Amino acid sequence: MQTRPEDAQLPYYEDFSPGTGSLPPRAWYPSSDAARLSLNGTWDFRLSPTAEGADTAFSGDDPAATAGWDQLAVPGHWVLQGHGEPAYTNVRYPFPVDPPHVPTENPTGDHRRVFDLPEGWPTDGETVLRFDGVESCARVWLNGQELGTFQGSRLPHEFAVGHLLRPAGNVLAVRVHQWSAGSYLEDQDMWWLPGIFRDVTLLHRPVGSAADFFTHAGYDHTTGEGVLRVDSEVPGRVLVPELGLDLATGEEARLPVEPWTAETPRLYAGELVTAGERVALRIGFRTVRIEDGVLKVNGRRILFRGVNRHEFHPERGRALTSETMREDVLLMKRNNVNAVRTSHYPPHPAFLQLCDELGLWVIDECDLETHGFVDFEDWRGNPVADERFTPALLDRAERMVERDKNHPSVVIWSLGNECGAGDGLTAMADWIRARDPERPIHYENDRTSRDSDIYSRMYASHAEVELIGQRAEEALDDPELDAHRRASPFLLCEYAHAMGNGPGGLTEYQRLFREYERCQGGFVWEWIDHGLPKVTADGVPYFGYGGDFGEELHDGNFVCDGLLFPDRTPSPGMTEFRKVIEPVLLTADPETGLVTVTNDQDFADLSALAFEWAYEVDGESVAGGPLTVPPLGPGESARVPLPGRPGTDRPGTAVWTFRAVLADDTAWAPRGHLVAWGQLVAAEAAAPPAVAGPAPRRAGDVIELGAAVFDGTTGALLRLGDLALPHAPRLDVWRAPTDNDLGAAWQTEDRHGELWRALGLHRMRHRLAGVELGERALTVRTRVAPAAAEVGLATSYTWQAEGDALVLRVSVLPDGPWRTTLPKVGLRLGLPAEFGSVTWFGGGPGEAYPDTRRASVLGRYRSSVDALQTPYVRPQENGARADVRWVELRADSGPALRVDAVDEPFYLTARRWTSEHLDAAEHTSDLVPSDTVWVNLDHAQHGIGSQSCGPGPLPEYHLRPRAFHFALRLSAA
Ligand code: GAL
Repeated sequence: MQTRPEDAQLPYYEDFSPGTGSLPPRAWYPSSDAARLSLNGTWDFRLSPTAEGADTAFSGDDPAATAGWDQLAVPGHWVLQGHGEPAYTNVRYPFPVDPPHVPTENPTGDHRRVFDLPEGWPTDGETVLRFDGVESCARVWLNGQELGTFQGSRLPHEFAVGHLLRPAGNVLAVRVHQWSAGSYLEDQDMWWLPGIFRDVTLLHRPVGSAADFFTHAGYDHTTGEGVLRVDSEVPGRVLVPELGLDLATGEEARLPVEPWTAETPRLYAGELVTAGERVALRIGFRTVRIEDGVLKVNGRRILFRGVNRHEFHPERGRALTSETMREDVLLMKRNNVNAVRTSHYPPHPAFLQLCDELGLWVIDECDLETHGFVDFEDWRGNPVADERFTPALLDRAERMVERDKNHPSVVIWSLGNECGAGDGLTAMADWIRARDPERPIHYENDRTSRDSDIYSRMYASHAEVELIGQRAEEALDDPELDAHRRASPFLLCEYAHAMGNGPGGLTEYQRLFREYERCQGGFVWEWIDHGLPKVTADGVPYFGYGGDFGEELHDGNFVCDGLLFPDRTPSPGMTEFRKVIEPVLLTADPETGLVTVTNDQDFADLSALAFEWAYEVDGESVAGGPLTVPPLGPGESARVPLPGRPGTDRPGTAVWTFRAVLADDTAWAPRGHLVAWGQLVAAEAAAPPAVAGPAPRRAGDVIELGAAVFDGTTGALLRLGDLALPHAPRLDVWRAPTDNDLGAAWQTEDRHGELWRALGLHRMRHRLAGVELGERALTVRTRVAPAAAEVGLATSYTWQAEGDALVLRVSVLPDGPWRTTLPKVGLRLGLPAEFGSVTWFGGGPGEAYPDTRRASVLGRYRSSVDALQTPYVRPQENGARADVRWVELRADSGPALRVDAVDEPFYLTARRWTSEHLDAAEHTSDLVPSDTVWVNLDHAQHGIGSQSCGPGPLPEYHLRPRAFHFALRLSAA
């Protein structure tokens, strides 16, 4: 290892400056007629433990220099290809904070690729070598000549290389350091994943080729005209054949056009023609403005139904393929999402192209976060307040804006995430405003909003959002800043933390966004769980999270907080969000039989949608047909009559369902795709007539009641007709705390999951107080309480026979000074493992809890017990089906257990392990089926909320101890 004298100049990877040798940033475009060559593929690779431990001989021609090296896929991260390990931290830097210094242990990946130029590669002009993303610092050589160095991981860097190229045997060598001064600016909450993770491309630049250009395509909503001007460093002509346009660069054209919006992503194909190149343009006409404190596009207020998207793939990390990018956009569109914040760095440029094409509003965020300084007094040392870092900050702002400025989807620039405040941010904002005055600037982490055109917050409670909506938020000390902030539109750049089971409370946020003009929506945190695949010693696959890779510091499963599971399967949170943000609202009035249809879009009418109705009894289809809805404009409503109720003598719960589906195939989903729906219960099933049942009687060790047999001592139900119950029903209040139940350590509000455990609700004891044989009923009285506590639940079970069925009435009366809520209140029973098949009439197909139940559709469902489980990356309470009217649990042979709701529907959960086992599991692979199917029939559940980072459940969803009375009918079917 080389040594460095104390006073020597700092090496480039500890340099505050962003690098040397690269070309000025310029606009990105997907294609032109100039030649290009992808250098993606298999490269030679060697990992060294320190930055300067290895020689640089690999930069030259000698093939022996790579003897013994491995091979690596580029784009890719070496830590996901068997060299070292990934590491996860949220806020904390995983190295001593001593900017610009980085640890001596600085994993360094040497990459080398030998390539030939394709036949006929032009020799005129220039050739540029482009890196679209390298984490975190690179030094580059071509054919033994050093080109330069750079930092700024998720931003492009180009070098002029024409003079160095040879027809064959070019040697491209790249040394990548995991840590650099730039790492201090890249403290985003995600895996640390070094490597060349985006494309490497060689681009021919013919003589007279286009350099940088800026397409200004505004839309004047008062006249319906587009205003087009393309400013180009190299003059040329702008052709838009569809509009009959042929104008010089720099010249302005005004003419009638169809505007671009996320709902109607109308793009016009054009070309920029310079002397040496034809560049494809995709022009979307739209104008973004803040007027009267409201953010408007094309003259109309817009509402963001957004998500925060990190680039993530479980095998590939941030090295996404174009298929994955497309899949993300399609999934967003299909789930009614209309906006993305590119948290917390500019995405691969092709992603923005997809947003232009398929229609998503984008907040493009700079590659910047210095959150780790928050732990030091007054953010001491914060790079955004340290002028030595300012050139690097400006470089990042410039590289983002220059690269992405021609995307109509990008409507807001964001300076970065969680950097506190500092003049460096102001310098970035000033530069961006001067370069692109046509887009507002967003920044959240400075309460004064001094650099931001938008008042942005994360995880604000409903109550606070409401105040802000009224422009009645608490004042800032500085009246000028206060006036600026109060006059700004409001966004929740993050809300509804989608970690584990949840988020709850979405409906109530959406209500506020609809009610207050200033509240222009939000961005759920976040799009996808960043779980990495692992396998147990026994070969069972599971997803790992922080701490599973030998990290010294880590933040556990806080990295798994998305609406999608790591494999991109939508979680119940996604389904719920999709429902809550529907672009069309469908509600029916039971009195009038009228369906109110509201077009909740900002621009489009309803002509893309077809409407239909269905009528079902007990989940079986009776009739259906089209529903005629006028082509309502945005914001308009109409009342539409349902057809007369179809006649049927089928008994059961009668339900109307109405749906809005795509009338035709679109670029993002096929015809018939469900966009919005509503339901109306027309009639509940009639309760069976009460029959006076027999009296309970003792027979030896047991008590008989109708077809049922109970233990004579404990009063536990042993058998119902031919059905034996190995674990009789009894009160259960425990659920395996969700991430949202547990809450985040920094929260000051009650963290219910912690309080439940502290009180011992996971170890309740049942004391038998009496077994009473009455005239018509068997009553079992108990007191259920944890050790060492003075609180308890006086619980009685009253059993009556009705024919072959049993009706069980449960009453739960809290005693003592209860200070906590309850996780839930219900019954738990156990059946033999063979009872693996479940049919129910109730909410489904997926799980639902009190504040996450909007997406639950009333119907008849069938599932295996296994398929009822929601595979949260960190196991926790999951899988409850809400509003259940009846359920049958069945084995392959023999009688089924049927449970019918009496008076009120219940929540149903069935799993092959207990809640205690679920609670103890850390990964899905810890969940091992037992010989019992555990069934929970819950009368009530505590809400879910979003306290893993934000507010807990709203008070109306708190399950407070009170008298509970509920009843169920059990039969052997
Ligand atoms: C925010 C942050 C995100 C993420 C989230 C919690 O504070 O901006 O990057 O850490 O909290 O998951």
